[in-house]
Amino acid sequence: MKKVCVVGASGKLGQYMIQHLLGRRVQVVGVCREKSVGKLDSFKDRITIIPGMTNDREVIRKAVAGCDGVLTVLVPWGLNDYSSGTAQAVLDFAEPNARLIFSCGWHISLDGKDVYSRKLKFVVSVGGWIGKKLRIGDIDNQVEACRRIFDSDTLWTVARGSDLEEGEAQGLPVWSEHVGDPILESNITRRTDFALFMVEALQNDDLIHKAPAIVGAKTASALAHKADVYK
Ligand SMILES: NC(=O)c1ccc[n+]([C@@H]2O[C@H](COP(=O)([O-])OP(=O)(O)OC[C@H]3O[C@@H](n4cnc5c(N)ncnc54)[C@H](OP(=O)(O)O)[C@@H]3O)[C@@H](O)[C@H]2O)c1
Repeated sequence: MKKVCVVGASGKLGQYMIQHLLGRRVQVVGVCREKSVGKLDSFKDRITIIPGMTNDREVIRKAVAGCDGVLTVLVPWGLNDYSSGTAQAVLDFAEPNARLIFSCGWHISLDGKDVYSRKLKFVVSVGGWIGKKLRIGDIDNQVEACRRIFDSDTLWTVARGSDLEEGEAQGLPVWSEHVGDPILESNITRRTDFALFMVEALQNDDLIHKAPAIVGAKTASALAHKADVYK
């Protein structure tokens, strides 16, 4: 990869992804809301920053031009179809053979075969209801964004994060195609490692058209079940 665009660059995940990319000497273009540009000050001499809403089609068209990879942070925040507008713009304007990696949470399901805990179902339904009532976000629109990605014939991967925490890197997370698989039981990943997974996915063709659900490599469930999965 020579040039990679990070859409949602100013958030925590975005900044970790930039660090990993710069460590690989990749040219980085970052897109973030105008009011958040200052969060990227520590990178400003090393990356190109394109300020703007990530669902602004002109902003995305310009940002992804010439990139062989695009890493997009899909969030349930923002209104007016922010998440699906962001995904659609990336799908429409990325270079034809670009690898497209999108982030989301375990609550997104590719094939309906995920098995969710009562706690996760409760958090998603109550969180989604509160987000809509307070007009701060729309989880349903993040679901719609992913439906459009799954229907697309671009070279996509949707990386589904477990609960996240800060802390030192533990290495590349392990993954499974379905939430509910024992290897994922610990449900925790360091955010820097989630970012590493997104960046490594750019070069991993086995992940094309998959929605890997991840968990930290050093969690109890990963250590207990890794040998069964990675034979
Ligand atoms: N947090 C978790 O525990 C968790 C769990 C599972 C999966 N995930 C997934 O991990 C990824 C990163 O999540 P994160 O929680 O760590 O957040 P994050 O990386 O800090 O990113 C949050 C992003 O949302 C943007 N944003 C915040 N408020 C917004 C608004 N009102 N309108 C538009 N954009 C807004 C931020 O932009 P600004 O910088 O401009 O504010 C930033 O790009 C997401 O895909 C999320 O679904 C998170």
